[in-house]
Amino acid sequence: MELKRAKKLNGSVSIPGDKSISHRAIMFGAISQGTTEVTNFLQGADCLSTISCFQKMGIEIENNSDRVIVHGKGLRGLSQPSSPLDVGNSGTTARLISGILSGQSFVSTLDGDASIRQRPMKRIITPLSMMGADITSKKGNNCVPLEFHPSTLKGIRYNSPVASAQVKSCILLAGLYAESGTSVTEPVCSRNHTELMLKAFGAKIISGGTTTGVLPSPKLQGMEIQVPGDISSAAYFIAAGLLTPNTEILIKNVGINPTRDGILKAAYAMGGDIEKENVRTVSGEPVCDLLVRSSQLHGTEIGGSLIPTLIDEIPILAVMAAFAKGTTIIKDAEELKVKESNRIDTVAINLMRMGADVTATEDGMIIKGGKPLHGTGFDSYLDHRIAMSFAVAALVLDTPSSMKNGECVNISYPTFYQDLYGLIDK
Ligand code: S3P
Repeated sequence: MELKRAKKLNGSVSIPGDKSISHRAIMFGAISQGTTEVTNFLQGADCLSTISCFQKMGIEIENNSDRVIVHGKGLRGLSQPSSPLDVGNSGTTARLISGILSGQSFVSTLDGDASIRQRPMKRIITPLSMMGADITSKKGNNCVPLEFHPSTLKGIRYNSPVASAQVKSCILLAGLYAESGTSVTEPVCSRNHTELMLKAFGAKIISGGTTTGVLPSPKLQGMEIQVPGDISSAAYFIAAGLLTPNTEILIKNVGINPTRDGILKAAYAMGGDIEKENVRTVSGEPVCDLLVRSSQLHGTEIGGSLIPTLIDEIPILAVMAAFAKGTTIIKDAEELKVKESNRIDTVAINLMRMGADVTATEDGMIIKGGKPLHGTGFDSYLDHRIAMSFAVAALVLDTPSSMKNGECVNISYPTFYQDLYGLIDK
């Protein structure tokens, strides 16, 4: 597809619901008693995969556009699916649902698309097996398809080698079905939506430092959840606002949970002019509107405990770095290799196509900004975040660009192109 260019942006955009929170609202609603009403639910393909998996396990879910009603059946109310559960492209669905499936009294199989069939599941198979779960990787490669057999789970204290909210959430969900308490300690804190939301549903969660614990067999009660806008989706508009000349845009309804707001910290460190307005709390999560103005960015260093707070925003930060003055170093981010694409490679290749000076490293990349950059043919590699990042780059390149497989934005942001191009000042 052809990508548009812009001399100036103006106006405002409302950010669709948070992907992580939308997934969790459906899952936790399904294993709670009574109804859970979810507003501003993200209608992206990944979250729809979560809905269909729970429907296959006998949960009635009414999806009326941005209002979704889940008729929960309690912790032990799921029923055996008659065919494999298909998570599509969604790593979050695959890893979180595995914690729930491990605790069920029926056999189930989990599968997904070609990309998900290559993503690492050993990171959850190992701790779940320590808890006593009976899981087989059907191809023997520690990836999906996975088969779950009924077993008795016991609580564990798990020291996770990776800072991953998907791993942490998977173990905590299995912990709901265990005979004793379970805890997870991470090298650095990952996003905490599971802890916040499970607690609101009635689970006993104990958090301190980098450790989170859960007590088994809680009485979970359905609730109303208003999903805040996804800061990972807002990130493309933050970058577009900063990079496009003569621009001032308002990005409305952005979740700014401190375990997710690394993009703002990095953008400030690069000299970005971003004002937080109307800071409020929505369903236990901090939310605000962001006023973003064109800014001359400069290089920065991104690493350490900041990484999990901006892991999905590294592709767009790399684009910002290419337009910035000076050098940006991104390190401690080897997790990028196991996302929807190997994002060290797919970012570096696309940056090189537009003429940027980038060196891929083992755990990130080094970008020397300020090189002359030009329009080009980008490839999304079927990764939604790569497509959106380089669509933003294309806005401000001097010649037209195109994107191969740009429609994959559908995974997390179906209206992305309309929303972005709706800001172009005509
Ligand atoms: C997510 C956690 C992150 C993130 C993913 C969503 C979640 O993955 O990259 O897009 O909802 O828990 P990891 O936990 O594997 O880092």
